[in-house]
Amino acid sequence: MSTSQVSPSPQGPAPAQKQATIHLENVYKVYDLGEIQVTALRGVSLEIYPGEFVAVMGASGSGKSTLMNILGCLDRPTRGSYLLDGKDVSQLTKDQLAAIRSHKIGFVFQQFNLLPRTSALENVELPTIYAGVPVEERAKRAEEALTQVGLAERKGHFPSQLSGGQQQRVAIARALVNNPSLLLADEPTGNLDSRTSVEIMEILQNLNDKQGLTVVIVTHEPDIAQYAKRALEFRDGKLRRDVAVHNRMVASEVLPTLPSPDADDFDPLANGAPAKPGHGAQPG
Ligand SMILES: Nc1ncnc2c1ncn2[C@@H]1O[C@H](COP(=O)(O)OP(=O)(O)O)[C@@H](O)[C@H]1O
Ligand SMILES: [Mg+2]
Repeated sequence: MSTSQVSPSPQGPAPAQKQATIHLENVYKVYDLGEIQVTALRGVSLEIYPGEFVAVMGASGSGKSTLMNILGCLDRPTRGSYLLDGKDVSQLTKDQLAAIRSHKIGFVFQQFNLLPRTSALENVELPTIYAGVPVEERAKRAEEALTQVGLAERKGHFPSQLSGGQQQRVAIARALVNNPSLLLADEPTGNLDSRTSVEIMEILQNLNDKQGLTVVIVTHEPDIAQYAKRALEFRDGKLRRDVAVHNRMVASEVLPTLPSPDADDFDPLANGAPAKPGHGAQPG
C-alpha cells in the first residue's frame, strides 16, 4: 500500500549505505548560566535514516528538548558534530541555521504555538513567507497542507475557535508547508486527551508511511511511543537505549476501537458562538 519513494525500514535503522538524515557524533550541550553550567547532553552519538519514525523518551530534564532543538537547528551543540543530510551544521551562524530550518525541517510543539489573532490559513502560510515562496503561491500551498491534515474546511477559523487537536493539526500543516524532509515534534500529544492523541499519531504515521517523511517525536507516554518504529531513551543527557518497536501500533486501526469523542468536546461553532478574532487562543 505504501507509495513512499524511500523504503522505510520497519525494524530500526536502514542499511548503512544510505545517507543518514541525522548523524550526531559525540554531541555535548552545556547551558552557561554564569555562576553555574548545566550539561544537558553528554556525548550523544546517533544516526537516523530517511523514512524512520523515532520516539525519544526519558524523564523530565533528561535532555530530550535540548536534543530536539539541536536536531531542528534551533540551537547548536557546544561540542561534537551534527551532520544533516551529510552537511555539517554544527558551526553555522543563526541566519544559516534559520535558512536550513526553513527548507528542510518542520517543527511541532506541545503548546501548538499558533498566532492567536490569525486564521488557520494565515498561520500555515507564515513559513512560506520566510522561505521566499512567491506571494501568489502561498495560500495554495497552505490550503494543500491544511487538506493533508483534514482541516481545509476550517481554514478561516482562528485558533480560539478550534479544539486542541485541531490546533495541533494546524501546527502540523504549518510544519509541512515548505515540504520538509524531516518532521520534529516535541511532545505533540502532551496537551491532548488520549483519543485526540491517537488521531495526531494517525496523521504522523500517514506522513511517514505514505510520503516517506522522516519523523522524530518526543513523548513521555509509552503508549504513544508504540506508534513509532524505533524508540530512544535518554537519561541524564545520555542515550541509554535504542530499540526497534515490536508490534507497532497502527493508529488508523486503533481509532475505531476507541470510544467516540465526548459530546462536550470543545466546538464553539456548534454552539453558534460568533467569531472572536481578538479572543485569547493560547491553551493552558
Ligand atoms: N535554556 C536553558 N538554560 C539553562 N538550562 C537549560 C535550558 N534548557 C534546558 N536546560 C536544562 O537542561 C537539562 C535538560 O533539559 P531539557 O532538554 O529541557 O530536558 P527534557 O526535555 O528531557 O525535559 C535540564 O537540567 C534543564 O534544566
Ligand atoms: Mg522537554
